Amino acid sequence: MARIPDAFIDDLLARTDIVEVIGTRVPLKRQGKEYSARCPFHDERSPSFTVSPNKQFYHCFGCGAHGTAISFLMNYDRLEFLDAVEELAKRVGVEVPRDTRQRNEDSDSRDLYAAVEAAARFFQKQYGLSGKAQGYLDSREVSADIRERFLIGYAPDGFNALRDALGTDERRMKLLERAGLFSKNDSGRVYDKFRDRVMFPIHDRRGRVIAFGGRVLDKEDGPKYLNSPETQLFHKGRELYGLWQVRQAHNKIPRLIVVEGYMDVVALFQHGVDTAVATLGTATTPDHAELLFRNAADVYFCFDGDRAGRGAAWKAVESVLPRMKDGRQAFFLFLPDGEDPDSLVRKEGAAGFDARLREAVPLSQFLFDSLAADVNLGTLEGKGRLAERAKPLLAQIPDGAFADLMRQRLTELTGVGARASTPDTHVPAQRARNAPTPGQKRSLVRAAISLLLQQPALALQLQAPYAFVGLRQPGVSLLCELLDLVQQRPDIGTGSLLEHFAEHEQIGALQKLASATLPGGEENLQREFLDAVSQLEKQTVLQRLDELQARQREEGALSDAEKRELLALLQMRAGLHKVPSAN
Ligand code: UTP
Ligand code: MN
Repeated sequence: MARIPDAFIDDLLARTDIVEVIGTRVPLKRQGKEYSARCPFHDERSPSFTVSPNKQFYHCFGCGAHGTAISFLMNYDRLEFLDAVEELAKRVGVEVPRDTRQRNEDSDSRDLYAAVEAAARFFQKQYGLSGKAQGYLDSREVSADIRERFLIGYAPDGFNALRDALGTDERRMKLLERAGLFSKNDSGRVYDKFRDRVMFPIHDRRGRVIAFGGRVLDKEDGPKYLNSPETQLFHKGRELYGLWQVRQAHNKIPRLIVVEGYMDVVALFQHGVDTAVATLGTATTPDHAELLFRNAADVYFCFDGDRAGRGAAWKAVESVLPRMKDGRQAFFLFLPDGEDPDSLVRKEGAAGFDARLREAVPLSQFLFDSLAADVNLGTLEGKGRLAERAKPLLAQIPDGAFADLMRQRLTELTGVGARASTPDTHVPAQRARNAPTPGQKRSLVRAAISLLLQQPALALQLQAPYAFVGLRQPGVSLLCELLDLVQQRPDIGTGSLLEHFAEHEQIGALQKLASATLPGGEENLQREFLDAVSQLEKQTVLQRLDELQARQREEGALSDAEKRELLALLQMRAGLHKVPSAN
């Protein structure tokens, strides 16, 4: 993102009519200041997708999808960031600025993609020439159509097949090396990494080949599967094998099935289950979980029924919980001993496999069953233990109905409720009052944040350093971060602001605050904002005053500087009227 100046992006988004961009793709209905539609990112009957022209963002109350016009194009048209920017720039008739470094980087990664693509073609051609490789896929009953669709290839035996064919000059050699296609021995000699293996190309979201998985033909020859190492193009924790093919087969993916192996994806596809993807020899990561749910609201995880499988399933639970926004569902399917999806679908067909999926265990059940497996719920001690284990996990679920229901379930099981993740995220947005009671202090910060999200330009009313920066209240540092960001990017809209905080632990709460519609016009919002800020400033004065006075009591004396500060603060307090104590 950083390569195109942020100011350009902010300006581009400000000029873009997000209603028009989305409206040409999804039928929108006007509703007051906003527009609504049935969400294009998940299945629903009644519209919970809203587009706000003022805030320049869209938000789905059902599945949590949200973002700017740029992210909409990325998700809906499946464009890369730069392409989405280009598209919008074209619409409003501006040139995308690029510095020369950018151009070099672009052509550099283009060359890298080209090198991997060339390798894929080479492997495919070799496959056509190898009776042995063809015989192997025949023996596994992989159809010709599927071989084509997945571009399955073959890396010949020997140490130099790829090297001799493609590593024709120093530059090509370097590229192939950076693409992870070579290994190096102790004396520095470079040789083909994949030898005598069936090659499964791994595609990225745009359908470009970025890496490979290679399977041995003969059992004895090293690890059964060899995967490309992490490269500039390939991060295995972020990619899913088969996702490109699934996307090609569906406009809207009804559900995704997560399996472990390349052959599982391929065989399921061949037998009519064309929505399976595989993690690449790793546990399900949080990035995987996000990618999965961005593509389908229902995700089914298939694992072996053994101990290792249950362990892997638990890893998936941990990755999925923070992504369980309302409307998303995760299920777990445990396979019978000795079977994998490949063998099952061959035996039982798509219908049989579907039947198994219908029996899959929902996340809620798997979670509580696993936590309670060695606990006696007939005793108070057992209930206590379950509550103890469940709380930190439930706290990770984004606020919403599902989170509430899970806490309710825990209460049913144990009689003990789990509090919301942090009390900070649970207080509903409140408008600032003139004289907050101590209990309202937190909502004051919330109110300021909430108003700022509605209208980021409010931040420009203030100047750093903010008087309340030292106030010890939850959310104050987040508020300051938001203010700082808007100071740096005065044209930023709500959508971009949220995107900037996408990785922040409070992003769920921020999204919620941003999508609420606050009553009152612009002036009103500004008055409330300044009001909240001045209350925070007063509280900061009182907090510091308390601190100094306490020190004076405990230590008997203050330094000269502190005495001066205390005096100044006391004068300030005299100037504040009707403000309750900071405690
Ligand atoms: P499995 O050993 O279950 O193999 O590995 P499989 O998928 O059933 O393969 P076939 O049917 O024998 O061909 C599952 C997945 O784990 C990763 C691969 O992604 C594989 O598809 N794996 C396995 C490795 O990365 N390396 C290995 O040596 C083995
Ligand atoms: Mn298998």
